[in-house]
Amino acid sequence: MANLVISLLVVIFVSRKVLCQTEAYYDQVKNFTFPDGFIFGAATAAYQIEGAWDVDGKGPSIWDVFTHTYPDRIKDRSTGDDACKSYYKYKEDVSILKKMEMNFYRFSISWPRILPTGLPDNVNQKGIDHYNDLINELIANKIMPLVTMYHWDLPNYLQTFGGWTNESIIPLFENYARILFENYGDRVKWWLTFNEPQMVASGYEMSALAPGIFTDGVGPYLAAHNILKSHARVYRMYDQEFRGNQSGKVSIAPNIMWPIPVNTTSRDDWEATFQYLLFSVGWFTDPIYSEQGDYPSVMKQIIAENSAHQGFPHSRLPNFTKDEVEYIKGTADFFAFNCYTSFLVKKNNTIPSPSQSADSRVSMYRATDWIKSKTSSWES
Ligand SMILES: *[C@@H]1O[C@H](CO)[C@@H](O)[C@H](O)[C@H]1NC(C)=O
Ligand SMILES: *[C@@H]1O[C@H](CO)[C@@H](O)[C@H](O)[C@H]1NC(C)=O
Ligand SMILES: *[C@@H]1O[C@H](CO)[C@@H](O)[C@H](O)[C@H]1NC(C)=O
Ligand SMILES: *[C@@H]1O[C@H](CO)[C@@H](O)[C@H](O)[C@H]1NC(C)=O
Ligand SMILES: *[C@@H]1O[C@H](CO)[C@@H](O)[C@H](O)[C@H]1NC(C)=O
Ligand SMILES: *[C@@H]1O[C@H](CO)[C@@H](O)[C@H](O)[C@H]1NC(C)=O
Repeated sequence: MANLVISLLVVIFVSRKVLCQTEAYYDQVKNFTFPDGFIFGAATAAYQIEGAWDVDGKGPSIWDVFTHTYPDRIKDRSTGDDACKSYYKYKEDVSILKKMEMNFYRFSISWPRILPTGLPDNVNQKGIDHYNDLINELIANKIMPLVTMYHWDLPNYLQTFGGWTNESIIPLFENYARILFENYGDRVKWWLTFNEPQMVASGYEMSALAPGIFTDGVGPYLAAHNILKSHARVYRMYDQEFRGNQSGKVSIAPNIMWPIPVNTTSRDDWEATFQYLLFSVGWFTDPIYSEQGDYPSVMKQIIAENSAHQGFPHSRLPNFTKDEVEYIKGTADFFAFNCYTSFLVKKNNTIPSPSQSADSRVSMYRATDWIKSKTSSWES
């Protein structure tokens, strides 16, 4: 895994260096080979594959409720009620992974399958058993399990208390994570607390994403704040209670859309490029990986300016205390990220209306001559 991460970083570094020399870049790409020790895997998310949404004691998640309540917000009105039926067909899935010669399988555990309401009082043994069966099947087939603890399927009961915007979720997430370490940590050595925290936070602003609540640029920052604190709490708890026995690795997986300046000789467009990265990725990686910790200072400054213009009494971006900055800093054993597509970016100095996605004051474009993917709306 460490090798895989390093290799991905190299690809990104090269692509940034040769932005202006596309042909030379493609020449180089043709010569790329995978280094020794590079490992391949496949990844899934519980809601997208399991189905069995209300089976064997599982509670509803925010995505179950979202797709049932707002079917029109899904392009083809589909739901995850049945999905790929992986809850039943996990052995077949593992045999496909084996045929594909995959070295690892990254899957997520559904919090409401383990704890139907998210509260500690009702642990669903059938949920625990399901993931034990899956993990054992993987190990029997020599496929390394990599577990995501949270891939967006919050127990819906917790959403009635504000979900991630309510900081009382932190000890509840810690309790859930402890159950996972206790039950699976003897065999699972690679853990991700959160998949794509930016997207989870966007659910408090974008109608297309669960829970689909618009909160005037306030909710996403509150959610992200509590996600970062929850992540750090779980990392520290693993250190104190499990690392000695289990010697696993714990991290978090932000998503990265790669920004490219529209005009590569414009200082403003380069600034927009870094600003976009700080607002989308640095938001989560600076507090964990940077030397000084905390949110990026550019982000703090611009959101405070935007908020003041918009009449807020203080910045919509919450503050960490000094102790919290120290507590969150360094809480990752490896660097992980998901990567999709790239965009052209340009500075946009209009003061936006309150919204997290507009706060960076960067406009995003797609070039008309980029090669289109047949299977995705994104250019590749
Ligand atoms: C790619 O590899 C070939 C054969 O090894 C070599 O001749 C060529 O110079 C390489 N091209 C680049 C851009 O590195
Ligand atoms: C936060 O959750 C607690 C229960 O855990 C609840 O008592 C409280 O009212 C919630 N706060 C908000 C603002 O919803
Ligand atoms: C495992 O952890 C427990 C609790 O922290 C501790 O009491 C025990 O000694 C540990 N066992 C080993 C083999 O390290
Ligand atoms: C790109 O930016 C440079 C520097 O600001 C400027 O001189 C040039 O005209 C710009 N090019 C285009 C196509 O806008
Ligand atoms: C955060 O701290 C800054 C500087 O101390 C202060 O100006 C700002 O109002 C604080 N923000 C919040 C949301 O409390
Ligand atoms: C610039 O930002 C404003 C406010 O968010 C937005 O309304 C406008 O469409 C943006 N302009 C461009 C060219 O994207």
